[in-house]
Amino acid sequence: MAKQTSGISIHLLVLLLAGCEQRGLLADGVSSSGATVDVPATSTSAAPVRPTLTPQARMEFHAREADMMRRAVIAGDLSAASVEAKALSEDEWTPRLKPTWRGHMQAMYAAARVYADAANIGEGAGAVAQLALACAGCHNALGGPNPAAYNGLPPEPSMGGHAWAAEQLWFGLMAPSETAWAEGARQLAKAAPFRSDVTAVDAQAKRLQQLGASAMTVAGEQRARVFSDVLTTCADCHRRVGYAP
Ligand code: HEC
Ligand code: HEC
Repeated sequence: MAKQTSGISIHLLVLLLAGCEQRGLLADGVSSSGATVDVPATSTSAAPVRPTLTPQARMEFHAREADMMRRAVIAGDLSAASVEAKALSEDEWTPRLKPTWRGHMQAMYAAARVYADAANIGEGAGAVAQLALACAGCHNALGGPNPAAYNGLPPEPSMGGHAWAAEQLWFGLMAPSETAWAEGARQLAKAAPFRSDVTAVDAQAKRLQQLGASAMTVAGEQRARVFSDVLTTCADCHRRVGYAP
């Protein structure tokens, strides 16, 4: 839909969206002159214009905030994305959003709030994984990213490999995409051993390989648990080695 209407003013786009069924984002039966309208009924209205963003623009925002949260967990510093989590938890797309869309938005707000209230890395990691499921809930129902267009990062040894695997797992969970999840799991399971002189650090690297192996065997929402454990393990090791990527 966005493709057909690109080039038309945002005003017109909003009015067009108001008439769409099925995958349209505005609630049925809410006319553009309704009480909760955030755009003027006609372009001659004197009311201030607050245009509704397209799904595309909204998604770029969601993806950006979620990226920051994921990175913060991996770096072991939740506060690095507290602003983003708050923004995501309060993201009022438009007051006229369809009820079917709204439920999914609320699942997203809830996960972002869990992040904002998290007392430790484990809880933050859990919230990010929950967030991916909230994204996927809506993507499954209403359309989402095109997995065929996703290629992640190039596979590299050691940290590059870890980072690549984590990105694949995230995309696999939130798009959702079976291919990306399986690739991430495979990459993690075969990640090069860390060979640290510190036993605890070496153990974390092995734990990631094990998590990669179990990622291959779990399905559905159990994947969120594994992903959360992956992020926690990244953060644990970075804390031990005193490195914040
Ligand atoms: C209320 C429903 C809903 C929620 C919640 C939602 N999405 Fe989406 N998302 C969509 C729809 C619909 C599309 C397809 C938009 C299109 O094709 O124009 C989409 C597309 C995307 C895309 C692809 C955009 C592109 O340029 O092709 C990304 C990336 C994305 N979503 C990320 C996320 C992330 C990350 C979250 C969670 C933090 C999320 N979305 C939550 C409905 C949702
Ligand atoms: C066994 C310990 C350990 C684990 C587990 C670990 N890291 Fe790292 N990470 C490091 C160290 C040490 C560095 C510092 C750079 C280096 O020595 O290669 C680092 C650096 C990074 C960097 C910065 C990249 C660079 O080359 O400077 C990123 C990104 C990163 N890690 C992501 C991850 C992700 C994602 C995970 C979890 C899937 C993870 N790491 C798990 C130890 C670990």
